Amino acid sequence: MNPTFLILAAGLGTRMKSKLAKVLHRAGGLSLVEHVVRAALGVTPAHKIIVVIGHQADHVKATLEPYGVRFALQAEPKGTGHAVLCCRETAGQEDGPVVVAYGDCPLLTTATFRALIDQQIASGKAAALITTRLPDPTGYGRVVLDANGDIAAIVEHKAATPEQLHIDLINSGIYCFGSELLWKHIVEIVPNAASGELYLTDMPEILARAGHRVAPYDLKDSTELLGINTRVELAGADRSLRDRKTRELMLGGVTIEKPETVIVDPDVQIGNDTVIEAFARILGASRLASDCRIGSCSIVSNSELAAAVHIEPFTHIESCVVEAGAHIGPFARLRMNARVGRDAYIGNFVELKKTYLGAEAKASHLAYLGDAQIGENANIGAGTITCNYDGVKKHPTTIGKNAFVGSNSTLVAPVQVGDGAYIAAGSVITDPVPPEALALGRSRQVVKEGWVAKRRAKQGK
Ligand code: UD1
Ligand code: CA
Repeated sequence: MNPTFLILAAGLGTRMKSKLAKVLHRAGGLSLVEHVVRAALGVTPAHKIIVVIGHQADHVKATLEPYGVRFALQAEPKGTGHAVLCCRETAGQEDGPVVVAYGDCPLLTTATFRALIDQQIASGKAAALITTRLPDPTGYGRVVLDANGDIAAIVEHKAATPEQLHIDLINSGIYCFGSELLWKHIVEIVPNAASGELYLTDMPEILARAGHRVAPYDLKDSTELLGINTRVELAGADRSLRDRKTRELMLGGVTIEKPETVIVDPDVQIGNDTVIEAFARILGASRLASDCRIGSCSIVSNSELAAAVHIEPFTHIESCVVEAGAHIGPFARLRMNARVGRDAYIGNFVELKKTYLGAEAKASHLAYLGDAQIGENANIGAGTITCNYDGVKKHPTTIGKNAFVGSNSTLVAPVQVGDGAYIAAGSVITDPVPPEALALGRSRQVVKEGWVAKRRAKQGK
């Protein structure tokens, strides 16, 4: 039976000191709550996941709607127990285990969720709760065990006696309940004396009082359980998540230099024998094939690179496609669906916007190529500019295959340059250039012999 997941994401996140709801802060390339949803999706289908929203509900909902999960509204953040209670209408009828997870625990994995559920089902107990031992348990709820090793109670840090503060076994906030007992007993939570909130952490004691047992599921590696309350913890989670992704890539055959400096988003795919140099960032839904090289400090975002593409350092590529064997950079910028053909060459300080550069074409230095279609094997000289914008509209430039555009040419769009045509250096091209023609669009050079001597004589020097 598929488990139901309740993911609590309605809280304010006061300790973040932020305008943005805590669960929307990003670590490892996603918002915190997205990580939890993704891990849950490894165990159960989207319609079995209910996210409790409240603070900035619309924003949280918009972030998670693409996953197809359901939502329950907690209009006021009256505590984690109250948040679960808000799901009773939506989830109360469903049987099977109910997993409760907090939206601020982004490191949890599918495997851990599955192990927790398996243990709860196998034990036949009312619930299982992930616990771990921390050298510094400050801030976490402390888990009090009974003589059988079951959970007798959870004591929040603030409410703990000096003696209980010494307990290093903590509440992760990840529970798996049998559905019936959860919905039967959740109504017994009473407001906390100090805060007035309903604490979900009261449930083990309530269940124990009713004669049921709650088992600890002790996780030896506590890194997965990090709950994010401050931006210091956010940075820690980011580090762990980035590390997880680069490790997975390296084990899959990708070389990453100084991986601690490299940022790769979770959905990025990279083929084997590709080399990622230090300080590179590969973002969004980028897909890199085998044998590529991404130069140091380059950024590749939502782009597709075919095999053996070589990106030199300090290059920025966003929403583009690069075909096999192409060479780009250093210091190049490609954006807005630019496409670079097979074995094409783009050198330093070249910008491509919504432009197709054909196979084996070259733009080796200092050019702006916008809204242009450039044929294969064309040569774009240094300093070439497509003047694609007249102040109101954008206009296209077409350059045929094997064309040769001399340095410092200005192509005033809309304009076409035919196959194999030549453009003289320094030209301003406003009219179509037929195939195989030479176009000169500049004034003729004038040389005045002896001009300096004449001027000197005039000035009497
Ligand atoms: C909670 C636990 C604590 C545990 C720790 C683990 C309680 C009372 N305490 O403390 O035992 O050690 O997590 O990380 O449960 N939320 C709501 N609605 C609310 C309140 C909170 O949806 O009314 C959500 C928050 O958005 C957050 C999560 O629940 O994602 C946890 O809330 P938080 O305030 O961070 O709890 P902690 O103080 O960390
Ligand atoms: Ca927390």
